Amino acid sequence: MKTKEKLLLILDKNKGNFVSGQEIAEQLQVSRTAVWKAIKTLKYDGYKIESVKNNGYKLSSENDILSEGEIRNNLFEKYKNFVIKIFKSTDSTNKQAKKLIAENTFENGTVLIADEQTEGKGRFGRKFFSPKGTGIYLSTIIKSNIKVQDISLITVVSALAVCRSIKNLTKLNPQIKWINDVYINGKKVCGILTEAVSNFETQTADAVVVGIGINLKTKLFPEELKEKAGYITTDNISRNVFVAEVLNNLFSLTENLFDKKIIEDYKKFSFVLKKEIKYLSGDTVIKATAVDINDKGNLVVEDSNGKKSVLESGEISINLSHNFS
Ligand code: BTN
Repeated sequence: MKTKEKLLLILDKNKGNFVSGQEIAEQLQVSRTAVWKAIKTLKYDGYKIESVKNNGYKLSSENDILSEGEIRNNLFEKYKNFVIKIFKSTDSTNKQAKKLIAENTFENGTVLIADEQTEGKGRFGRKFFSPKGTGIYLSTIIKSNIKVQDISLITVVSALAVCRSIKNLTKLNPQIKWINDVYINGKKVCGILTEAVSNFETQTADAVVVGIGINLKTKLFPEELKEKAGYITTDNISRNVFVAEVLNNLFSLTENLFDKKIIEDYKKFSFVLKKEIKYLSGDTVIKATAVDINDKGNLVVEDSNGKKSVLESGEISINLSHNFS
């Protein structure tokens, strides 16, 4: 870890209070000049740090800047050495992740995070609104030989990981709209885009990119999203802590992908079961009732004649007056 990252950890631990330059220098075993230089770089990176002669340095409690060190510090021991790359701005972290896969320069669990995305991708070719500084836009690469038909389980555990994180860090009640949209109080706060790089011959995925977009503190949405999109909190939850929580949950869940308890837990968060839904089959809109989620994460629906069908992917709409979006 670089000096500035270590320094940030010390300031963050004492957020809102002064720490003297001497104390920092001793803890980091560097000179006071090195501390001063590191402070300058942190300020340049956008951190609000107050410097007062004879008092030292204070990290303002408003700071919510993505930091590799702070994320790593909050990860479980076994994930602490995973590759983490933070972009100030990028087109799309999923695009960047797929680039790494194409170049074969990635490791299992590689994490790419952006402060903003200029071309954030949603499902079905939609855009994902990704403004600077308030949301979480992350992609991680799961290197796996998972069978193509089991990829939806990765999507299932991703939504579950986000719900567990919200539960652990807030008092809110997240809900999942099959297959992987997370809602709070009827508004979508998180979308997930899973993209697999598959091996045609073996019918397995060489790698799966899980792209997670969370409106953690994003409150201002463009006109077309205002009705449907929501945010998680106005509280001072750090994005770094939230990212680490999501990754801890996600990595733990992917290690036990076939554990039957996962679907049980997923169902508890689901708000589609027993509801009337509609979905597209080709160009036809079908109305049905969602009756179950099977052990592959597929949605089992029943039409008015009692005929059951299994939906493996796609999108459902719950309120019958809603469009498919
Ligand atoms: C959806 O709601 O349709 C899925 C949205 C997925 C957005 C995330 S943000 C991080 C990653 N990079 C992208 O370009 N998209 C995903």
